[in-house]
Amino acid sequence: MENSSLALAQIFESIRVDLESVDREFARHVESQVELIPKIGKYIQTSGGKRMRPAVLIMAARLAGYQGDRAVLYAAVVEFIHTATLVHDDIIDDSELRRGRLAVHSRWGNDITVLLGDYLYIKSMALALTHDTLDLVRLLCDVTLRMIEGELYQLTKNGDADITEDEHFDIIRRKTAYLFGGCAQIGGMLGRVDKEGEAALQEYGFNLGIAFQLVDDLLDFTGDASALGKPIGADLREGKMTLPLIHLLQQDGEIGSRIVRDIIASRTTTDEQWDQLLRMLRQHRSIDYANRRAAEFAERAKKPLYVFPPSAERDALLALPDYVVSRDR
Ligand code: IPE
Ligand code: IPE
Ligand code: MG
Ligand code: MG
Repeated sequence: MENSSLALAQIFESIRVDLESVDREFARHVESQVELIPKIGKYIQTSGGKRMRPAVLIMAARLAGYQGDRAVLYAAVVEFIHTATLVHDDIIDDSELRRGRLAVHSRWGNDITVLLGDYLYIKSMALALTHDTLDLVRLLCDVTLRMIEGELYQLTKNGDADITEDEHFDIIRRKTAYLFGGCAQIGGMLGRVDKEGEAALQEYGFNLGIAFQLVDDLLDFTGDASALGKPIGADLREGKMTLPLIHLLQQDGEIGSRIVRDIIASRTTTDEQWDQLLRMLRQHRSIDYANRRAAEFAERAKKPLYVFPPSAERDALLALPDYVVSRDR
């Protein structure tokens, strides 16, 4: 497989300088006299991370003809929001590793991590208020609330092997897609595109976000832990049903269902169970099915971009959905 980090670096090349500014902005805003905050802030910021959401925002702003420096500010805001989510999510999911390092809670404990996440959330909104652009702040609140709703809704479905595909997609839209949609939309708002252009960008980001989460869930079966920087097989052990499993249970209500329910009940997998599960997922084409759905949303993301005239900026945005479905990290 093509090294997907390289592919991403190529897509981001035209905004590399801006992404570097986003990192500096991020570091600047975790400054505090309470030393722990910049310390953990730096730990997170230097741990890698693809910067997908900031990049979508900046690339959309460029497509919309915006050349000012506010794109960097709002890009830092969305990375703050994303980061707050991740530190909380890893507590909820009991995930030890993030970006190839100890997750914040594994290193500093849950108490500090909860507060640090809160700090990042409020900081993101304070930062977004810098220019009194209330429409942007409203949008950011909206997508962040949906994300939290998504995480909560997911928890109410935890351990439920009978979750439906519709319910699952509802979770994905809320926890991931609206934020991506908001990133692209903010880019359009900065460039003052018309309502049609704004909606087109939102639709782009939203569908990209769905594809992104479907692939994240697929990589939990097909990925490599060291490339991903987080363990594989974790979702099911956490009681989280994802699309390949939902498809499998539609096809095979017996053996597949028994293995899945056993793993959910015990919260562990033996090597034998895992191998058998992977075999069944392939046999019933459940991995193919989820890949196909991800590709479908990636294609859906591209379509609305054609309301914009051809440009290098548009090409860069068009390349992202293809990256997302082929990525290995
Ligand atoms: C992880 O997001 C959480 C999901 C929505 C799947 P990313 O894969 O964008 O995380 P980083 O920022 O690159 O580590
Ligand atoms: C991502 O979901 C969390 C949100 C988008 C809110 P996951 O739980 O699938 O993300 P990872 O796998 O831990 O990165
Ligand atoms: Mg998680
Ligand atoms: Mg995941």
